[in-house]
Amino acid sequence: MDKITEVQSQALEAIAAAQDLNALQQARITYLGKKGLIQSLMSEMKALPKEEKPAFGQKVNICKQEVTAAFEKRTEELSRLAVSAKLEKEKIDITLEGDRLTIGTTHPLMMIREQIEDLFLGMGYTVAEGPEVEEDHYNFELANIPKDHPARDMQDTFYIDPNTLLRTHTTAMQMRELEKAEGRTPIKLICPGKVYRRDDDDATHSHQFMQCEGLVVGEHITLADLKGTLEYMANRMFGNGRKIRFRPSYFPFTEPSVEVDVSCPFCNGKGCSVCKGSGWIEILGAGMVHPHVLEMNGFDSEKCSGFAFGVGIERVAMLKYGIDDIRNFYINDARFLKMFDRFD
Ligand code: DAH
Repeated sequence: MDKITEVQSQALEAIAAAQDLNALQQARITYLGKKGLIQSLMSEMKALPKEEKPAFGQKVNICKQEVTAAFEKRTEELSRLAVSAKLEKEKIDITLEGDRLTIGTTHPLMMIREQIEDLFLGMGYTVAEGPEVEEDHYNFELANIPKDHPARDMQDTFYIDPNTLLRTHTTAMQMRELEKAEGRTPIKLICPGKVYRRDDDDATHSHQFMQCEGLVVGEHITLADLKGTLEYMANRMFGNGRKIRFRPSYFPFTEPSVEVDVSCPFCNGKGCSVCKGSGWIEILGAGMVHPHVLEMNGFDSEKCSGFAFGVGIERVAMLKYGIDDIRNFYINDARFLKMFDRFD
């Protein structure tokens, strides 16, 4: 009988001491298992005198019940502890700072392109596109630059084969659009895009750069319309109060041709280091579409006229944001690109 009491108190102690479900399981096997200590007490009963058996049996049963009850209670306790330990371990501290994702910014050239598109869309223009791998026909022939024309030297060209090249100017798209219109007017569009020239890269030259072409064809279109349009663009791009001036120039596809200066946005035309003291900065080439270009593209140059211009996007961006090296646009140094966050 004492042995039963002893086994029982050992068992209860072992159960209480078990710190996790594994240890508890061990204790169960030791005491409650088929070959466990309580079972072996049962076997000892056989050896007892008959009259002692009932009391002994009863006591072993009570012992078994109590140990089982203690085991179940401890199982429940330890399971609960295990769950809360797991929850504690998996707790997410929402006050911890997370990893910051680096999000890209709009490229400054795209910003200028979008600003130009917006301002012309606002005036009812459409935006046209064309291929960067272009035919000689559109890049040169229709633009009044036949083979052997000296103007071909002005634009060192990447040729793919004798008739295929990387377009050297967005004027190629102007020619595609003129041809597509089949003599119908009015035409009012811009064509922004990349262009390529066989230049050595330096602070002001890049073998790949961007232009935006503008084209308006209709009845009674004059140089004054061109001037008003470009003045509006200069004010929108460089701030109110900009003036523009035309200087005579030469392009094979326009007659007359002009180079267009904008009054220096840095000194308001007074003269500074950016405008080299002149108060003016050259921003683009333009002119009245050459009658021969209109005729080659199926327009009656007696009945309609048009103006065109081609503006360098890098040039506008460099002026607007004070960038002194064109290569910055193409190196893709994140520190440079990030600076344009605030303009976006
Ligand atoms: N295509 C010229 C260039 O790349 C720019 C240009 C000048 C475009 C006059 C025009 C224009 O449409 O009328 O230098």
